Amino acid sequence: MKIDKAVNIEDLRRMAKRRLPRIAFDFIEGGVEDERGLERNEAGFAHHRLMPRYLVDVSKRDQSAKLFDRVYASPFGISPTGLAGLFRRGADLMLAEAAAAANIPFIMSGMSTASIEAAAQTAPSHAWYQLYVARDMKISEDQIRRARDAGLSTLVLTVDVPVSSKRERNMRNGFATPPQPSWSALAEALMHPGWIAEYLRHGTPLFDNWAAYANSGADANTVAHFASTQTPATVTWRDLESFRRLWPRHLVVKGILHRDDAIHAAEIGVDGIIVSNHGGRQLDQAPASIEALPIIHAAVGDKVTLMLDSGVRRGADILMALCLGARFVFVGRATLYGAAAAGLPGVRKAIRILRDEIDRVMAQIGCPSLEQLGPDFLL
Ligand SMILES: Cc1cc2nc3c(=O)[nH]c(=O)nc-3n(C[C@H](O)[C@H](O)[C@H](O)COP(=O)(O)O)c2cc1C
Repeated sequence: MKIDKAVNIEDLRRMAKRRLPRIAFDFIEGGVEDERGLERNEAGFAHHRLMPRYLVDVSKRDQSAKLFDRVYASPFGISPTGLAGLFRRGADLMLAEAAAAANIPFIMSGMSTASIEAAAQTAPSHAWYQLYVARDMKISEDQIRRARDAGLSTLVLTVDVPVSSKRERNMRNGFATPPQPSWSALAEALMHPGWIAEYLRHGTPLFDNWAAYANSGADANTVAHFASTQTPATVTWRDLESFRRLWPRHLVVKGILHRDDAIHAAEIGVDGIIVSNHGGRQLDQAPASIEALPIIHAAVGDKVTLMLDSGVRRGADILMALCLGARFVFVGRATLYGAAAAGLPGVRKAIRILRDEIDRVMAQIGCPSLEQLGPDFLL
């Protein structure tokens, strides 16, 4: 299938699946343990109904959304996804470029395969940086300094990885650093010559933001091993307070699900919270973000800017999250499928699909501008 023919995010997912060997596709797709969190994310959105209102003038719809001090063209952005370069060489910067062109935010992963400086150059006004705290705090402080020097507006601290989670697909496939593919994963990979050729040509992609702290001249596998000795680190409220002091610009905490944690983060003075269960990739028994959102919204109201990710595949999902109190929504897999399937045109396509779905559903429910959204539009 050609990228132009994709009509929804599921089409992009299928195209990505065809192009990638199982060992790589499963890393994107997989959850943890029994993958109930993945199911819960989908079921969480399926549980809600949008209640349409008719006889409203919807001849003009405006999906622009204000977030912090900027107006974005749509109410969604791109969540941080590590190792993107393994699925498509250069994918991090393709995501950044497509986001900037579409005027939506792009969060570079703390395990990205391009550097903070390159993201800032590609998307100077749209790139944010997501920090995975290192055991050696000097490394984290230096990454924060780099983000500041590069001019990024927003730092995102991911807090939902106290330990590495049990990703059973990866264990079975032998997804590791360096890769130790099982025989069956290796045999299956040979059926994806396009990806294999790219991998052989470029080798293992480099965790660019970590290279400076590993031994000089270290290759990609050594840098990956070094990063794996530094993360996950223990992160506490006290660390959050010190990051608040270190980072004067917008500070966002990603991965909060409990109302009291949201209240505490707001008290510390963070600017935003991404309500997230990490796309079902950390705690399999965690609630779906869309279930946690209204409880958190009731607890913190507008004291802190609420955002959401996990399980978003449709424009309507984004609108439902906005009805339940999110100001903004992020997608992880949706745009990554696009990058894996077709590179930059694939990311652009994913953004266009979501944008078009938002536009149509806004008209269908009689809501020409996002400010009007609220629980009244839900059944
Ligand atoms: C392949 C992949 C890599 C990810 N890497 C990171 C990461 O480096 N940092 C992070 O905070 N979240 C990471 N996430 C989680 C996403 O930021 C996001 O929370 C999740 O993908 C949202 O769910 P969705 O994929 O259903 O949209 C990753 C997710 C995927 C699928």
